Amino acid sequence: MEKSLYSAEWVESYYDEFAGQEWDRLVRTPAREIQLAVHANALTTFTREGDRVLEVGAGPGRFTQILAQLGATIVVTDISQVQLDLNRENATTYGFAGHVAEWRKLDICDLSFYASESFDSVVAFGGPLSYVFDRRDQAIEECKRVTKPGGFIALGVMSLWGTVHQYLEGVLGYTPEENARIIATGDLTSENAKFASHFCHLFHSGELKQFLENHDLEVTFVSASSGLSAVHASVLDAVRTDELKWKQLVAMEIQACQTTGYLDAGTHLIAVGHKPS
Ligand SMILES: C[S@@+](CC[C@H](N)C(=O)[O-])C[C@H]1O[C@@H](n2cnc3c(N)ncnc32)[C@H](O)[C@@H]1O
Repeated sequence: MEKSLYSAEWVESYYDEFAGQEWDRLVRTPAREIQLAVHANALTTFTREGDRVLEVGAGPGRFTQILAQLGATIVVTDISQVQLDLNRENATTYGFAGHVAEWRKLDICDLSFYASESFDSVVAFGGPLSYVFDRRDQAIEECKRVTKPGGFIALGVMSLWGTVHQYLEGVLGYTPEENARIIATGDLTSENAKFASHFCHLFHSGELKQFLENHDLEVTFVSASSGLSAVHASVLDAVRTDELKWKQLVAMEIQACQTTGYLDAGTHLIAVGHKPS
């Protein structure tokens, strides 16, 4: 069997070391707050009060908290024990522990601990599907197996063109050959780029949609994580202090991010696939 590009050990140790920095990731700057609002909008659109949700790669719990506010019961899982411990700590500190059924360490590629059709939805935001590289077919089939018919899977993955857009200067630091390899395969690996230090598969929007359809999921929602403001971080501090302008910007972002022209503009892509009833 060909060697997989996926290293569970690398991902686990990366997020064990990253630790508490992850809780602030989506509130650190106004630009990140927009990403949080755009992801939250997808959850608000599809989650129903009383839903039983499997959250995979939950990290320290930004979206666990939002799912709890929406009235869901969440089974919180992650490959990193440090992130799981932080999630439990934050759930206690911020008062959403009562909505968490359990915390369990697991890999998105193996959800065998859970029975088939035992969740209304699976939420995997922040890239678990990107980290598993060529094991993504196995991962999505596992997500689909545990989802009830008619339920949905909400994914957040790393975006190829959105990452280039956001980090253009760094990207141009790679050689043309390295960039050509990454763009051709979507794979950010040390084989494709000698000095890469963060390894994942970067999707483009058409690829993500096709991937979900190939697994018989009906794609009901696709969005960038940000579009209008993606490379305007410097003006956002001022906008953030004006409540009216801020609300207007967030509303426009939610709308713009779902348009074809902006799908590949943000660092992440969000998609929701429904399992047939
Ligand atoms: C960028 S963080 C996102 C955390 C949270 N979902 C969010 O969006 O704020 C990615 C999380 O996914 C977890 N993760 C990565 N690969 C995973 C895998 N194969 N199975 C389960 N969790 C994984 C990491 O440990 C980390 O906590």
